[in-house]
Formats: sequence, structure tokens, C-alpha cells
Amino acid sequence: MTAINNSVLDVIKKRRSTRAFLPQQISREELTAILEAGCWAPTGHGHQGWHFTALYNADVVGKLAAAVRQELNLPDTYCFYGAPCLIIVSYEREYEHAWLDGSAAIQNLLLAAESLGIESCWINQVRQTCDAPAMRRLLTELGVPTDHVVIGSVALGHGAAVTAPKPRKEGVVNIVE
Ligand SMILES: Cc1cc2nc3c(=O)[nH]c(=O)nc-3n(C[C@H](O)[C@H](O)[C@H](O)COP(=O)(O)O)c2cc1C
Repeated sequence: MTAINNSVLDVIKKRRSTRAFLPQQISREELTAILEAGCWAPTGHGHQGWHFTALYNADVVGKLAAAVRQELNLPDTYCFYGAPCLIIVSYEREYEHAWLDGSAAIQNLLLAAESLGIESCWINQVRQTCDAPAMRRLLTELGVPTDHVVIGSVALGHGAAVTAPKPRKEGVVNIVE
């Protein structure tokens, strides 16, 4: 534990994976700020081979959730926790740092959202299903580049409930002097 604190450290510690969203949409300005933060993540060699597909319409988010449900045989209740907005982070499939760069961008999205008082959750199932033919057709329709792999997606919105922090593991740090 440290006594040092500032607004960035505060945001890092306050971010939670939210699993219940209200229907209320975030503002366009908030979405733009979050996307911009994604673009400021570090990339190997400064490559920036990513693409951010923002679904800013609850019906479109619902359409994608239905396609994921279909691929994974999930129940009707599966809906990205009711989030009205979802950002799909994809990256040039063959680039050696695709997963690292894409994940760094996702963390930026999560932290930027938290800094604006917007709840978020990393959603894995779009990545899992992105190469299934029906999913790929829909992703292409939505603007995900055809030579990209989906690294992950981020559900965004206003939380319907407060999420308790998960305790952090002890003993995972050592400092060598
Ligand atoms: C690679 C990755 C994939 C994840 N996929 C999901 C997911 O599909 N659904 C979900 O509810 N949470 C998902 N999460 C969120 C984790 O479950 C969450 O970060 C973890 O439980 C710790 O909680 P916290 O984020 O509130 O600290 C994912 C996180 C990561 C890093």
C-alpha cells in the first residue's frame, strides 16, 4: 500500500467490471473522448495497426449480442449486460504485437471511461466468435476490417448497480534493490 495518490491512480483503482447497465446512452462527446484515449495507447514500433468499431446504438449492440448467442449457444439473457454502447477493438491479424497493442488500447478505453464516470466491462465473446462465418459477415457489415482479428470488446454505459472490488492477490510483487 502506498500513501501516494493522484487522479490517475484513483481511476485505476476505482475501475470495476460492471455487469449490469442502464439503458441510458452515454454522450457522443464521452464516446469520442474514450475512443481518443484508446488511440493514445502505446504500440510496438508505434505501429497503430488497430481499428475501433464503436456501436453507438443499443439495437445494433443487441444484434451483435444475438449473433454471439447464436454462435456460442448462449441463453436469450446474454446481452453484454444490457450495455447500450460497445467498442470492438480489432487489429491487423498477422502483426506480431497485435494482442499486446490491442490489449493496451482496451485498458485505455476502460480507464478513460472510469475517469468520465462511465462504467465498463471487457467482453471476450466477440473475440472468441469473430472468425465464425456469420459473425464475420456481421462484423464486416459493422466496419471491422476484413484482415483484422478481434482482440476484445468493451461494453460501456451507466451502471445499474454498484460493483464491489475483487480483492487483489498478495505476494505478486517483488522489488529488487
Ligand atoms: C482478457 C479479458 C477478458 C475478459 N472477458 C470478460 C467477459 O467476457 N465477461 C465479463 O464479464 N468480464 C470479462 N473480463 C473482466 C474480468 O472478469 C475482470 O477484469 C476480473 O474479474 C476482475 O474484476 P475487475 O475488472 O472489476 O477488477 C475480462 C477481462 C480480461 C482481461
